[in-house]
Amino acid sequence: MPDNKREHWGSSLGFILAAAGSAVGLGNIWKFPYVTGENGGGAFVLIYLLCILLIGFPLMLAELTIGRKTQKNPIGAFRDLMPKNCMVAHLIGIAVGFTGLLLFAFKQWGWGTIFILLSVAIFKLGWSIVGYMGVFCGFVILSFYSVVGGWVIGYIVEILRGTINFETTAQAKDFFVGNIGNPVWSVSYHIIFMIACIALVMSGLKKGIELSSKILMPVLLGLLIILIIRGISLPGAKAGITFYLSPDFSKITGETVLIALGHAFFSLSLGMGAILTYGSYLDKKQNLYKSTLSIVALDTIIALLAGLAMFPAVFAYGGSPEAGPGLVFQVIPTVFNKMPAGSFWIFVFFFLIFIAALTSAISLLEVVTSAMMDELKFSRHLATLTSGILIILLGLLSAVSVTGWENIPWVETVMVKLFNCKQGNFFDVADNLASNWLLPLGGMFISIFTGWIWGTTYAIKEIREGSPEFANVNIFVLLAGLKDDPKHNPEKVTWTLATTWGIFIRFLSPVAVTIAFLYTIGWI
Ligand code: TRP
Repeated sequence: MPDNKREHWGSSLGFILAAAGSAVGLGNIWKFPYVTGENGGGAFVLIYLLCILLIGFPLMLAELTIGRKTQKNPIGAFRDLMPKNCMVAHLIGIAVGFTGLLLFAFKQWGWGTIFILLSVAIFKLGWSIVGYMGVFCGFVILSFYSVVGGWVIGYIVEILRGTINFETTAQAKDFFVGNIGNPVWSVSYHIIFMIACIALVMSGLKKGIELSSKILMPVLLGLLIILIIRGISLPGAKAGITFYLSPDFSKITGETVLIALGHAFFSLSLGMGAILTYGSYLDKKQNLYKSTLSIVALDTIIALLAGLAMFPAVFAYGGSPEAGPGLVFQVIPTVFNKMPAGSFWIFVFFFLIFIAALTSAISLLEVVTSAMMDELKFSRHLATLTSGILIILLGLLSAVSVTGWENIPWVETVMVKLFNCKQGNFFDVADNLASNWLLPLGGMFISIFTGWIWGTTYAIKEIREGSPEFANVNIFVLLAGLKDDPKHNPEKVTWTLATTWGIFIRFLSPVAVTIAFLYTIGWI
């Protein structure tokens, strides 16, 4: 039952900007360009776009649907919709328990214990375990996300203090590594970033999350466009555009596809119930299908634009696109330093990243907060404060160990002894666990749950509220643009000469002409 006390978004636009604010974040501006740089430029971009379209889009619609139907946080949502005695859940529970025993047999005590506990939890909690996993994942992601968010604040402060003044990328690198390796520096800014998050989430849905997104998202888009104009008008920018837009398929391997998929989840905030939670604040009037379209489109466009803001400038000033996670922090300050009014542009860039990071971080905090409010009946203030402080504490581990384990050797001992997990630092452990395991697994379970356990019949019934035509639209008619033709009986038309022609003329020819055009001007 939707309870009347639950907060709702003030307007449809407010919701879309908040959800897009969640999706658009460090993933778009910090991670997408360097992952693209490391994985072959244009070819990677193409695969990423396919992942967004084929997997990201359907999953986002599923999360929004579950959220709006149940009006609950992820834990309560799955609990509401799951059948009482689910065979599939029991089977998964047995399989997990069996794996646990096997792990014991191989003396993997740490993992063995976790699998056994997990199996007991699956028997007890059923599908709501997916919700618990999501809340846990939000907790882990925010703990390291806010460390990077903190670096961004740190850079903004350093720019204002005038310490960012590099001639070479090597200098920029020393500065970057020196600062993030300084525990006092990274811990302080991590805490400051979290305080900003806590303040916004505490102010509530409409006054905090919705209002800040409504102001910050347009600012973000504006700043990005200014930066792109600046970047592509530089002499020598063309090499960057070529690198970015012309696919080099020789760099594509199976791993590239996986990276693209994982990044699609991360970038769209999917797989852990963040979008589900935002969906739970929607009313039945909202057109879920169109909302998904807008959110996915905004996220994708902003990622593509971020690449366009970055690569031309990087190439114009002889930077390397393969600089890795340091790309933004090392290359941008060096590159912009060589331009007139350099410091100003560096400031603009980092301010942009800060906005993007903040609107994403509040969505992560909101998941944990709303779970505490619903499940433990905490007030919003208490829930935000409790979850915020716990996340700050976990984040300390990442903040003091970005460059290695020196500061917390005992954690490494525990990781190696119990889990046989050897990573360079705690930051990587958290990122790897959340982004490469929990999100894809969560996404998989959300799909299976929607498609097979709850069932598409009920899901589509929910989607139809607010978008009544959803289940009746004939894809061929839609793609061919024939829907207003009075002679048509859309239910009968599937694949005809008319629809084929319509689809070709609308999609194939423009794409072919564009490719030919790019070829002529030498970009392909
Ligand atoms: N999507 C955000 C980004 O691109 C990060 C993020 C926010 C996120 N909420 C999430 C990632 C939930 C996974 C799940 O930076």
